[in-house]
Amino acid sequence: MSRPENVLITGAGAGICAEVARRLAAQGHRLILADRDAAALHSVAREVGAAALTTEPWVVDVQDVGAVEKHFAALGPALLPTALLNGVGGDARRRPVTDLRESDLLDSFLHNVVTAFTLMRLVVPEMTARGHGRIVNLASIAGRSYSVFSNAAYVTAKAALLGLTKQYAWELAPLGVTVNAVAHGPIATDRVTAAWHAKSEEERDGLTAQIPVGRLGTVPEAAHLVLPFLTGPSGFATGAVLDVSAGMAI
Ligand SMILES: NC(=O)c1ccc[n+]([C@@H]2O[C@H](COP(=O)([O-])OP(=O)(O)OC[C@H]3O[C@@H](n4cnc5c(N)ncnc54)[C@H](O)[C@@H]3O)[C@@H](O)[C@H]2O)c1
Repeated sequence: MSRPENVLITGAGAGICAEVARRLAAQGHRLILADRDAAALHSVAREVGAAALTTEPWVVDVQDVGAVEKHFAALGPALLPTALLNGVGGDARRRPVTDLRESDLLDSFLHNVVTAFTLMRLVVPEMTARGHGRIVNLASIAGRSYSVFSNAAYVTAKAALLGLTKQYAWELAPLGVTVNAVAHGPIATDRVTAAWHAKSEEERDGLTAQIPVGRLGTVPEAAHLVLPFLTGPSGFATGAVLDVSAGMAI
């Protein structure tokens, strides 16, 4: 096994991040799992098993900066994360720009960008002190270009997350900390599947026609390509944006 990492994962209760957690645990890495949905989080914690957990799962809304700081402070120096996966985010509502208001941009920014910033702000000092850290931000195909599935607030927020990723990567590269982003296309998590089935067949066909691979991605396909940035000899990749988007971002 590669060097064991102590990976803090936000949004670990569902979707891509829950699957990354299962895979990291199977590879012998240790986990700090965080999610605001207590039932979902504890279910993933049970799946990975107590031996994989650095600490009790954090039932926390990561938009609550004070609450996140409290959990973080309780870790103590020996348990601080060596890797971070920022997974909180998303917005599967298709809305025209004419319907959007300032509050939509602010909400999306808090959900997709500020949450990632808070966790990076907290983990980076210890990572730079150790000269080792791995950070991955889940961006989106939406932040690479435009979105046929969502809206301008989400596109704007994910584009900002890519900017944040690149500046952190550049500043931290000499200090042993890598910061990368994965930009998924549509992945059939429970959240996205529910939004998908709420659409008419005609709308689904129209959207599928815009995906070169011709289907939604699976959660295992989405999780598989996140792991290399978090573990193993990945120190030469930083500031990268990995497209896992079925050819939508060529
Ligand atoms: N699923 C996709 O198609 C897709 C595509 C591109 C990018 N992404 C990005 O990947 C990431 C994960 O998406 P997913 O679909 O796997 O997630 P998901 O919606 O399946 O799960 C998200 C988890 O985050 C938790 N969560 C949400 N807000 C939270 C908060 N404020 N504090 C703590 N926990 C919170 C939820 O309880 C849930 O367990 C998101 O950032 C999303 O934007 C997803």
